Amino acid sequence: MARFSQPQDHAFQRLNESISFDWRLAPYDLELSREHVEMLARQDIIAADERDALCAALEGVAREVQEGTFPFSDQDEDVHTAIERRVTELAGPVGGKLHTARSRNDQVATDLAMYVRDRATSTVEAILALARALLARAEDHLDWPMPGYTHLQRAQPVYLSHHLLAYAWMLARDRDRFERVGAAAAVLPLGAGALAGVNFDTDRAWLAGALGFDAVAPNSIDAVSNRDFVLDYLAAAATCATHLSRLGGEVVLWSSEEFGFAEVADAWASGSSIMPQKKNPDAAELVRAKAPRLAGHLVALHGVLHGLPLTYNKDLQEDKEHLFDAADTLELCLEAMAGMIGSLTFNRTRLEAAAADEFLAATDIADLLVRRGVSFREAHGIVGSLVRLALDEGKRLSELTPQELASRSPQLDAEFYDVLKGRNWLESKRSEGGTSLARVREQLERARAVLGVSP
Ligand code: ARG
Repeated sequence: MARFSQPQDHAFQRLNESISFDWRLAPYDLELSREHVEMLARQDIIAADERDALCAALEGVAREVQEGTFPFSDQDEDVHTAIERRVTELAGPVGGKLHTARSRNDQVATDLAMYVRDRATSTVEAILALARALLARAEDHLDWPMPGYTHLQRAQPVYLSHHLLAYAWMLARDRDRFERVGAAAAVLPLGAGALAGVNFDTDRAWLAGALGFDAVAPNSIDAVSNRDFVLDYLAAAATCATHLSRLGGEVVLWSSEEFGFAEVADAWASGSSIMPQKKNPDAAELVRAKAPRLAGHLVALHGVLHGLPLTYNKDLQEDKEHLFDAADTLELCLEAMAGMIGSLTFNRTRLEAAAADEFLAATDIADLLVRRGVSFREAHGIVGSLVRLALDEGKRLSELTPQELASRSPQLDAEFYDVLKGRNWLESKRSEGGTSLARVREQLERARAVLGVSP
């Protein structure tokens, strides 16, 4: 370059290059260039034969990219310079016209917006695949009782289907978040030039339509500095990964000897190098551990953008690796979870035995007293003392005698024993969103409708 009297230092080159990771933007960069050239010709900024020559060269480069024969040079700093260099090699001096009325600043922002739009779509598909697996498992285990927990202490019994559906609703919100990411990335930066606009009569609205954008960025300064759509992707990814991490964490607990609620299929587990009896739920553990990595990518980009003066600064090159790793990691986790959840086997006996712990009906007994006019707070105290009594005597609640009940409250009669029978404490949770079978069935249908998943 004429402006410089020294070659770039080798360490600077290594620090400065982005081609090692932004090469995956090549298909977007080529599509952008094709439509940009088309627009330049439509606006009489270049001649028709120049457009044809540029398009033929871009076609040639696209073929080389696809076939993996693109000849890289040591001097290629990023995907944009590499493609422009190669177009010029193939087309001759007319290649120099490719960069008319644009800058790498609006170009890279546009490539990245197109990339985010596509990844938002593929991430939504991966979310729906996992949601489908969860809904199918919920259907298979519709009336399997299990203990519901708070503080990881048995709290109240629920159906396994109800518990699994909780994750389906998280995924429905994740899907919505990624759809909003797609919308945030649908505003076209191209045409902003370096930062101030360009000295040509370009047609950005036409370009937006040709490249599949919904609108044109209204401020050239904002257009080249905006990376909100990347932050949006990373924020949605961090939240989704956090959901997956909770599911992974539960699968790890459930597959322990102590819980014995579930067993992961062999395809999703590994053995120990020393203890032959072991089968470890590694997939669930790894998914559990990925969440902070994704949250880290979000925090890192916030750090890059924080206090960054307008407009383009080379700092912005740091957006890509965070985005790429987040998208790759999240989609891999979603795919793995769909496979692992789809092949998980649950142990009905263990789940049912744990759910049959009568102390889980303590709230239901308190509610029985409430129906008889006792205030809830007072009922809470009475049942607490019954639990204490049962624990002291080593009895189940249903083994307490009528005299022992009467010693705690005159309102505790034979109906006390009915409350503890069978599934009464599950089936009495008839409030909307509750665990009674009819409500869970209703919820499953709603989840299917919201997620657009057929049975
Ligand atoms: N490789 C750069 C990036 O990823 C492309 C934009 C470079 N623009 C510039 N003015 N140096 O951000």
